[in-house]
This record gives sequence, structure tokens and C-alpha cells, in this order.
Amino acid sequence: MIRLNINIDHVATLRNARGTLYPDPVTAAALCELAGADGITAHLREDRRHIKDDDISRLRAALTTVLNLEMAATDEMCGIADRVGPDVVTLVPERRAELTTEGGLDLMATRVAIEKISRVCQRRSIKLSFFIGPDEPQVRLASELGAAQVEFHTGEYCHKSGSERAAELVRLQRAAALAHGLGLEVAAGHGLTRFNVLEIAAIPELVELNIGHSVIGDAVLVGMDRAVRDLRAAVHRGLAERRPRA
Ligand code: PXP
Repeated sequence: MIRLNINIDHVATLRNARGTLYPDPVTAAALCELAGADGITAHLREDRRHIKDDDISRLRAALTTVLNLEMAATDEMCGIADRVGPDVVTLVPERRAELTTEGGLDLMATRVAIEKISRVCQRRSIKLSFFIGPDEPQVRLASELGAAQVEFHTGEYCHKSGSERAAELVRLQRAAALAHGLGLEVAAGHGLTRFNVLEIAAIPELVELNIGHSVIGDAVLVGMDRAVRDLRAAVHRGLAERRPRA
């Protein structure tokens, strides 16, 4: 099975466009759960451009599944994670000027900050996941730094086509096998849609997907329930293509 977490950030983007109380990301999260999502992912950015602190507190109180808090490895976010107690913390890189998370975390460059957050997660029994590119040194370092899971950035795969996309898929497959061999759980996310998720879902070691923009976009047109169920069906088609590694 693959856990399907829905990232509800862009429900907040729509709300914040007018400074209204609607649409409420917490209501959206409840609808995702009713449609069968295994968890809810939310990214509390430094600039609070979509999800706000109050959303995280309300999600923590309302969710019946799992809260995966995406955040940068900063002291401020470390304090929030300690206070709120999400089920999972996913550390992501953050640049103010970016439209979205553009690349994976450089674990070497952020090592000291990560070690501090890792200690908080251990004390609070929070699962720790790192959002990284499918690079061997990063995977090995993730294991050394006490991650339970790595989430591979699939943005490159999604934006490429033809032989370049095929090469990126091979990188993802190799990195997933390495991470699994080191005892890490393997997740993936970024840029995935119900069309391009199939080959990613077919990676044998993959146990979790985090998908946001495309499914919220679909929900605007067809409703959250159908959007999540259609995505789940696509993930299942990918799973059916899984072949055990030779
Ligand atoms: N996983 C992580 C770690 C992310 O930062 C994001 C984007 O916030 C996603 C998954 C979801 O990406 P998308 O919105 O492109 O589906």
C-alpha cells in the first residue's frame, strides 16, 4: 500500500487572496480524510503566504489521521513543532523568492539546525522526514542524521520529458532502493498529478506520496471528494504496475 497525504496549502492560498475565512483548509482536510486520505500535509512557511499558525493548531485539534508539518529547519519552526506536536515533521528548504519548494534540502549545509530539530522530534516522538533530491550522499547523510523517512523531490521528474524524464526516474528508483536498504521509509512528492503519478507509485520501495497543487486544482472543478478518489485510483494503477526488483 501507499499512504496518500493531501497537501492543503493552496486552499489557504485561495482564502488569503481575499483575506476571508473561507475556504477553510481545516474543512478541506476533513473532506480529504472522508475521501480516504491517509494524512494531511501542510507547509508553514516563514512568510506565512498560505498556511498560518492558527491553521496548524486547528489542524492538530481536528485531524483524525496524520498531521505532516512541512517546515524549514529554523529555531522558530522548531519551537512551533515542539508546541504543536505534529505526527511527522518534514524538513524542507525555503527561499523567500521562490514560487514553491524548488529543490531538496542540502543536509550537509543545514546539519547543525537539523540535529537540534532531530533532538526535539525524538523527545516528542515525532517522526522525522527530510525532503531531498535523489542523490546518494544526501540519502546516506539522512540516515546518519536520524531520519525515519526521506521524501524525494519529484519536481525534476515532473518537469522533464522523454529521455531526460526516463533518466530522472532511474535516479529516483536507485535512490529509493538505497534509502530502503539503509532502513529509511521512502516517500515522494512535488509536481505530481493523477497523470504523472503512475511511474512514481510503481517504485517498489515507495510507501508515501504527498500531493497538493494538482489535487486542490481538481477539487476546485470537481469537488474534493472526487479529486482525492480519482488521485487514489491513479496511485492504485501505478501500484498494479509494480514489479519486484530483480
Ligand atoms: N512535498 C513537499 C515536501 C513539498 O514541499 C510540497 C510542496 O509544498 C509537496 C510535497 C506538494 O507538492 P505539490 O503541491 O506540487 O503537489
